[in-house]
Amino acid sequence: MKPTLIIALFTSVAASAAFAEGDVGDSTAGKRAFSQCQACHVVVDGEGNTLAGRRSRTGPNLFGIIGMQAGTVEDFRYSTDLVEAGEQGLTWDEETFVAYSLDPVKFLRAFLDDRRARGKMTFKVRKSEDAVNLYAFIKSVSPPVAPDLEDN
Ligand code: HEC
Repeated sequence: MKPTLIIALFTSVAASAAFAEGDVGDSTAGKRAFSQCQACHVVVDGEGNTLAGRRSRTGPNLFGIIGMQAGTVEDFRYSTDLVEAGEQGLTWDEETFVAYSLDPVKFLRAFLDDRRARGKMTFKVRKSEDAVNLYAFIKSVSPPVAPDLEDN
C-alpha cells in the first residue's frame, strides 16, 4: 500500500472514532478550521471583539449559537427553511452542528422531511473531525448555556 493511502485511511478512521465516542473536540484545531468558514462567518462577542473570522456577514455571527434555536441570530436574513427548522425545534448541539456542517442541505431536508428544502448555506465541511473541532471551538468561546447542555 502506498504511504499516502495508509495515512489517508488512518486519518479517516481516527476522525470517525473521535466522532463516534462523542469525544470532546479540540478547540484550538477548531479555531484553525474556522478558516473554512470565514469567507461567510465571524465569531464576534457581545462587546464587539472578533474572536474568529474577518468581516464577512454573508452568514450569521456564530458567537453563542450553542444551545440556541436555529435561525435566530438578530438582524440576519435567514432562509425560510432554516427559520422553519428552528421553529420546529432545531437547536445547535454537537450532533446537529456537526451534521449540519457536513451537509447543510441534506440535513435540512431530513430535518424538515422536505426534499425541496435548501437553506442558504451550501458549503460542506469535508472531514467530520474538523466539524467536531469547530463545535468545540465555538462552544469554548460561547457564554454558558442551560445546565443540561453543559456537558455537550
Ligand atoms: C459560502 C458561505 C458560507 C460558508 C463558507 C459557511 N457558511 Fe455557515 N452559513 C452560511 C449562510 C448563508 C447561513 C444561513 C443559512 C440559512 O439561512 O439557511 C449559514 C448558517 C450556518 C449555521 C446556522 C447558524 C444559525 O444561526 O442558526 C451554522 C451552524 C453554520 N452556518 C456553520 C458553518 C460552519 C461551521 C462553517 C465552516 C466550516 C460554515 N458555516 C461555512 C454561509 C456559509
